Amino acid sequence: MKNIFITGGAGYIGSHCVISLAKNNYNPIIIDNFSNSNESVIKKLEIITKKKIIYYNLDIKNKKKLKSIFKKHSCYAVIHCAGYKDVSESCEKSINYFDNNIGSTLSLLDCMRERNVFKIIFSSSANVYNHGQSLPLKETANVGKTKNPYGNSKYIIERILMDLSNFDKKWSVRIARYFNPISNHSSGIIRENSKGIPSNLLPYIISVAKKKLPELRIYGKNYKTKDGTGVRDYIHVMDLADGHVAMIKNNRMKKGLEVYNFGTGKGLSVLEMVKVFEKQIGISIPFKFVKKRKGDVPASYCSPKKALKELKWKNKFDINQAMKDIKKIL
Ligand code: NAD
Ligand code: UD1
Repeated sequence: MKNIFITGGAGYIGSHCVISLAKNNYNPIIIDNFSNSNESVIKKLEIITKKKIIYYNLDIKNKKKLKSIFKKHSCYAVIHCAGYKDVSESCEKSINYFDNNIGSTLSLLDCMRERNVFKIIFSSSANVYNHGQSLPLKETANVGKTKNPYGNSKYIIERILMDLSNFDKKWSVRIARYFNPISNHSSGIIRENSKGIPSNLLPYIISVAKKKLPELRIYGKNYKTKDGTGVRDYIHVMDLADGHVAMIKNNRMKKGLEVYNFGTGKGLSVLEMVKVFEKQIGISIPFKFVKKRKGDVPASYCSPKKALKELKWKNKFDINQAMKDIKKIL
């Protein structure tokens, strides 16, 4: 059974990747410092996967200790999810964000090189695409005019990985540009569990549904979209997790660099999201319109055709199924 190291494997996306890896007969090994997750997720993953999960509580910037993990276990490939992800926090703490996101990636790459592990999947973001391009966004669309330290850190890491694979042909790099991951595993045992007040739409709506927050504040009502509110490409996190396995399996990680969008290819507005939540979950969501959030784009959705063609991957779950799974955590 191949070992797959997964940095940030206790986090929202990483933990769902662990389930998908285990289901597909890979052996996930988690490395996470629990800065934005909880150690209790490991037991939950063991319940879901019915397997013992190996994990290390470690900041991957700690190269010395990271090297010892690479020495202890063979590693087929690394899924690199570890990083900070809050856009507004990144504007206040840019040095922390660059240090953690870029610093940890350099530490990881150095350990991998030393142990002759050259296969890496990097968690990038739709945030790297330039604003104002025609939709749907293809992987070949322009990137790099990122406007906040979080997005810049993702773009800089993409550049580092591009140089790495350009100048050292041993590397096999896959850049996964996530659109908007939502929902949770159908067991309802694990979920997105960020610390603090949520900034993403669905976690915010869930907090309103649970009466932890009084109402949803919708950022902007006069965008040039179908109903004036922001449009995004929401992808079920289990589909996204399966996308990672699709990149690895069937010996697909050939040398060189490939970029893949992971989304559904369909856009949903904030108002549509509220409506579908209320219909499927049966809890009404009070909301008010407030001014646009700085840095938001009116609409963003991808073309997922490359992943379909090359990885035979396509989203299996629609927004209704995503809601049914969310119902299990309420
Ligand atoms: P998350 O915060 O739930 O998970 C990240 C995990 O990394 C956490 O468990 C955290 O404790 C860990 N971590 C952070 N810094 C670390 C370090 N130096 N060493 C070890 N562990 C560390 O976030 P997520 O939503 O699961 O996102 C995973 C990745 O995907 C991130 O890189 C994020 O930027 C990217 N991404 C997320 C989204 C999204 O909407 N969730 C969208 C696009 C891209
Ligand atoms: C945000 C981040 C992006 C990150 C992505 C996934 C910003 C500017 N962008 O993108 O970098 O990669 O999350 O983590 O923060 N909305 C509301 N009210 C809310 C929350 C959101 O109206 O309380 C709206 C937004 O204006 C947007 C949509 O809902 O139109 C989705 O927002 P969100 O979930 O934050 O995702 P993104 O804006 O795509």
